[in-house]
Amino acid sequence: MPNPTHIQGVEISSLAGQFGTPLYIYDGEKIVSQIQTLQKAFSAVPLKIKYATKALSNINILKLIRKAGAGIDAVSIEEAKLGLLAGYTVDEIMYTPSGVGFEEIREAVAMGIMINLDSLPLMEQFGKTYGDSLGACIRINPHIMAGGNIKISVGHKESKFGISIEQLPQILELVAKYQLKIVGLHIHTGSDILDAEVFLRGGNVLFEAAMQFPDLQFLDFGGGFKVAYKPNDVATDVLEVGKAVGEAFQEFCKKYGRQLELWLEPGKFLVSEAGYLLVRSNVVKETPTVTFVGVDSGLNHLIRPMMYDAYHSVYNLSNPEGKKAKYNVVGYICETDTIAAHRELNEVKEGDLLVIKNAGAYGFSMSSNYNSRLRPAEVLIWDGKTMLIRRREEFEDLIRHQQIHEI
Ligand code: LLP
Repeated sequence: MPNPTHIQGVEISSLAGQFGTPLYIYDGEKIVSQIQTLQKAFSAVPLKIKYATKALSNINILKLIRKAGAGIDAVSIEEAKLGLLAGYTVDEIMYTPSGVGFEEIREAVAMGIMINLDSLPLMEQFGKTYGDSLGACIRINPHIMAGGNIKISVGHKESKFGISIEQLPQILELVAKYQLKIVGLHIHTGSDILDAEVFLRGGNVLFEAAMQFPDLQFLDFGGGFKVAYKPNDVATDVLEVGKAVGEAFQEFCKKYGRQLELWLEPGKFLVSEAGYLLVRSNVVKETPTVTFVGVDSGLNHLIRPMMYDAYHSVYNLSNPEGKKAKYNVVGYICETDTIAAHRELNEVKEGDLLVIKNAGAYGFSMSSNYNSRLRPAEVLIWDGKTMLIRRREEFEDLIRHQQIHEI
């Protein structure tokens, strides 16, 4: 795929003039088409998509995703509230907490949102408090090592998430003790999973456990589909996963005696490729060994390269035809915040606009004010409109919550 100069007919460089840089830009059409791809891939089963809100949680993005027919998975009470503000009904939201205090569970229950129970102590307290009065889901740790990086592999034996599949007897004891109404079972094994077989293996763990739960309405396979990051990179073949998992699921439902829903919680698959971080080159600095391009952004806006050694394609928007040279694209933060190392880019001058791709998922949502830097603005292009969906931070935003004393 050639590097885009336009998104839905909007010239990317004109956005720099209109909104300044650094700037997060989202292509709404791409998000909707990714949802449609999943819906098509899993058309043989009753599918519910619960978008992993943490990937990108701007309310306008949530609204767009709802319009395309998906619900959400929230991992904090605040994400659930964002979902409500975006117009989701409580039954379109699932709450998947990890080790939160029970007050937060109470708050979600009071809102009417279903809880995904993530530990035996939480099951115990939930049972004591609510007994059989509420439907709930259980997050199983299936002991499957999967994902592009150990930090984002969360379904293996040593992971903090879910209740170990080996503890199924204890789960069943608690269900019996409190007459818990378990309507769903959930797994999520990790992020950047390429192999369709991993989803099948996860399914088999779910199918086997599910036979012990007579009230099920759904099985949730989590998220984790890999998208393409590098040129010529491969993404998860969701058609293949949909076919293989869909068939196994329908087979299981026959055995179970009832048609269940299949839930998915994609984050990256829906929003990663739809997002671009537009930055400007501040300095081109030659050293005896490396030429650095210093841009007006850094790990405070996109931490993925530093945190997961993630690869993000970068291209020079201002010089689409120029000859190539090798650069290290680095941020302006007082750390070694390399965004892209040893990359061939069309020759970069100071002032050029660079585009960092795959910035939609875990880009803005993981951003910070480190180095007392301000967060970028966010723009959504959708339905022929260019919408500023978050204004750029100003210095006042940085100090808004500071209490300044006589010292
Ligand atoms: N469901 C649950 C319960 C999750 O914990 C996650 C991601 C997802 C779904 C969505 O996974 P996805 O489809 O986006 O791979 N910050 C990391 C990724 C962390 C993922 C955390 N959980 C990154 O930038 O690679």
